[in-house]
Amino acid sequence: MELSVQLAPKHKSGLLLANPVMTAAGTFGYGTEYSHMFDIQRLGAIVCKGTTLEPKEGNPQPRLAETASGLLNSIGLQNIGVKALIKEKAPLWTSWRVPVIVNIAGETVDDYAQLANELDGVAGISGIEVNISCPNVKAGGAEFGTNPESAARVTTAVKSATSLPILVKLTPNTSDIVKIATAVAEAGADAISLINTLKGMVIDINERRPLLGSKTGGLSGPAIKPIALAMVYEVAGAIELPTIGCGGITTASDAIEFIMAGASAIQVGTASFTNPHAPLDILEGIERFMEKEGIKDIAEIIGVARR
Ligand SMILES: Cc1cc2nc3c(=O)[nH]c(=O)nc-3n(C[C@H](O)[C@H](O)[C@H](O)COP(=O)(O)O)c2cc1C
Repeated sequence: MELSVQLAPKHKSGLLLANPVMTAAGTFGYGTEYSHMFDIQRLGAIVCKGTTLEPKEGNPQPRLAETASGLLNSIGLQNIGVKALIKEKAPLWTSWRVPVIVNIAGETVDDYAQLANELDGVAGISGIEVNISCPNVKAGGAEFGTNPESAARVTTAVKSATSLPILVKLTPNTSDIVKIATAVAEAGADAISLINTLKGMVIDINERRPLLGSKTGGLSGPAIKPIALAMVYEVAGAIELPTIGCGGITTASDAIEFIMAGASAIQVGTASFTNPHAPLDILEGIERFMEKEGIKDIAEIIGVARR
C-alpha cells in the first residue's frame, strides 16, 4: 500500500512524507511531549508549536474555553523563541525519521524573513509553515492572511530567506480564501495549509464579561470541520500546489473526507487533547479504509470527490 505524499513538488529537494498524517501547530508541542505515548516516528510529519523571534509569554488567563463540539483558545503564541528552539529542540529532531516542520509567526514581514533565515540549514528541520493566520495576537498574525498583497509579501520574503520548503497556513477569517491562496501560490509557496481557527467568543454570564482574558479566541475542533472542508475543496480546485487540510479532524473518516476534497495531507489538532493517540489512530484508520476499498495508492483518492 502506497501512502507517501510529496508536499513540495516544485522544491529542489522536495518534502516527502511517508504518509499524509501530520500534527497541527500548537497542539503537539515540539513532538517530544508525545514521544513516550506512541511511536510518533510513524507519522507523516510533526508541525511544532508556533515560533517567534523572541520568547513569548502569551495572553492573559483564562486562555481556554470549551464550546459545543469545539474549543476556544487565546494562547497568543506562547513559545520559547527561535534561538532556544534551534539550540534545545532541533538537535533532538536530527535522529528522527519523521520530518519536523517549524511553524513561524511574526509582527512584520521582516520578522518572518529573519525567522526563515535563522532556520535555514539547521539540522533536524525539514520545512517551515508560515502562520499568517493567528487570530490571537495584537500585531501581525492574521493581519497578513486577510489581504492577498500582504500574504504574498510575507511568502516572497520567507521564500527568499530560506532554502527550506515552505507551507503557508491560511486563516478562514477572510471573505475570499481562494484569492489569498492564489496570491500565496503565485508568490512561491511550496504548499498551502488551511485552516487556522475561526474567531469566536464566550461570555461568562455571572461575571457579565467575556470569559477569555483576551476577550476573543480561536475556535477549533469538530465544530469547524464542515467550514474547513468546504474551504479545502475550494482552494484545492483553484491552485496547482498541494493543499494540507486541517480543522476538526478527529477520526480517519474525517481525514479521508479532506483527502477526497483535494488535500494531499491532513493535520490533527484539537483531537490530540482528548485522545493523544489520535494522529496514529487516524493513520491506522486510513490504512484500514484503503485495504477495505482496494486502494493501492493514496493518490487514487486525493481530490476524488471533485471529479
Ligand atoms: C491551543 C491551540 C494552539 C494553537 N497554536 C497554533 C500555532 O502556534 N500556530 C498555528 O499556525 N496554529 C495554531 N493553532 C491552530 C491549529 O494548528 C489548527 O489550525 C486549528 O486548531 C484547527 O484544527 P483542529 O480543529 O484540528 O484543532 C492552535 C490551536 C490550538 C487549539
